[in-house]
Amino acid sequence: MYDFDEMIDRRGTRCYKYDALEEEFGRSDLRALWVADMDFRTPDFILDALRRRLSHPVLGYPVTGKDYFEIVSEWVEDLHGWKVPASCFRYVPGIVKGIGFAERCFLQPGDKVVIQKPVYHPFRIVTEQSGFEVVNNPLRPQYDAEGFVCGYEMDLDDLERKIDARTKMLVLCNPHNPGGVVFPAETLRRLADICERRGIIVLSDEIHCEMVHGGRRHVPFASVSEAAARCSITFMAPSKTFNIAGVVSSYAIAQDPELAERFFGYLESNETDYPPIFSAEATRAAYTEAGKAWRAEMLDYVQGNVDFVDGWLRANLPQIRAVRPQASFLVWLDCRKLGLPQEVLVDLFVNKARLALNDGSVFGEEGRGFMRLNVGCPRANLEAALESLRNAL
Ligand SMILES: Cc1ncc(COP(=O)(O)O)c(C=O)c1O
Repeated sequence: MYDFDEMIDRRGTRCYKYDALEEEFGRSDLRALWVADMDFRTPDFILDALRRRLSHPVLGYPVTGKDYFEIVSEWVEDLHGWKVPASCFRYVPGIVKGIGFAERCFLQPGDKVVIQKPVYHPFRIVTEQSGFEVVNNPLRPQYDAEGFVCGYEMDLDDLERKIDARTKMLVLCNPHNPGGVVFPAETLRRLADICERRGIIVLSDEIHCEMVHGGRRHVPFASVSEAAARCSITFMAPSKTFNIAGVVSSYAIAQDPELAERFFGYLESNETDYPPIFSAEATRAAYTEAGKAWRAEMLDYVQGNVDFVDGWLRANLPQIRAVRPQASFLVWLDCRKLGLPQEVLVDLFVNKARLALNDGSVFGEEGRGFMRLNVGCPRANLEAALESLRNAL
């Protein structure tokens, strides 16, 4: 019913993915397969809701509406089977900002925050820039019979060893970017036991959770046990799923009364806890039956893109292998068998193949030999990109 093959020219719309190529890659003649938004049309039921609001000529201060978090909490329950009262939700103006706010709310200078590399690099940046120390608890790669990485698992023994008296927080990426891992409930339960016992608050970034593939179900960290609910704050958003990152619509969920009081109080005192007009309108329009139907079709298409990239590489470029994501539209490419130093690998993609992908080493040393490909785009775009890569090689 929806057309995900439509090619939409985004250049000149002041969008980061296309209009910042020159700034970020030193040239603009690149196929953009990097920043984590999709090239699909934002669905009409969201655009129409925004247009309806725009048809009124006054854009003054909005009110959120009492039903807003009831709608959000019903959506979360429907999708993940996780029932949380609406009172446990608050708006945050972006998940990275939410993480930064939580760090500043709960930590003292010199405190340590655990992250699990290779991981979404703003976790490191926001933590360091807020004056806290990053501790790396690297994920352990899993290998297939040919020696390619095919997934990641947590190393909880390493975590236990690295925790000391200053370790106060862990930022979890669940599902994981860039590895695409949907962590099993049992792993999350063990993580929760460790963190609760050692007095560590878990910030669970679940921005990709609405995009789990292959009939799997996302397991919210806070849902796995009472310990997990007590020690964590969860962050979710419709932004990735419905391609509305630019309207900035995210929310935090805290069930523990003490954590909630402190964190929500912090947000309130900074007046960052209510959504701007378009953010709330877009979320209301997304979290509906039409949203569910669109999401299902979009996920089918994205899964088809993952299959396509995986199959194409196996058939045509067997030195590069796609780590098949269990969630979302980011495909971690294992390029280690090319045997190229990272700078040469990046040069191959950018200057030879004219492709803008994320350099894997940005996500940590563990990402050397990898590139991150965004497959949230028409399949024909991927086909052309892979041909360019083959020609460049
Ligand atoms: C894991 C993860 N968290 C957060 C974000 C960004 O979220 P926001 O724009 O709400 O800060 C991204 C975007 O790529 C992401 O992949």
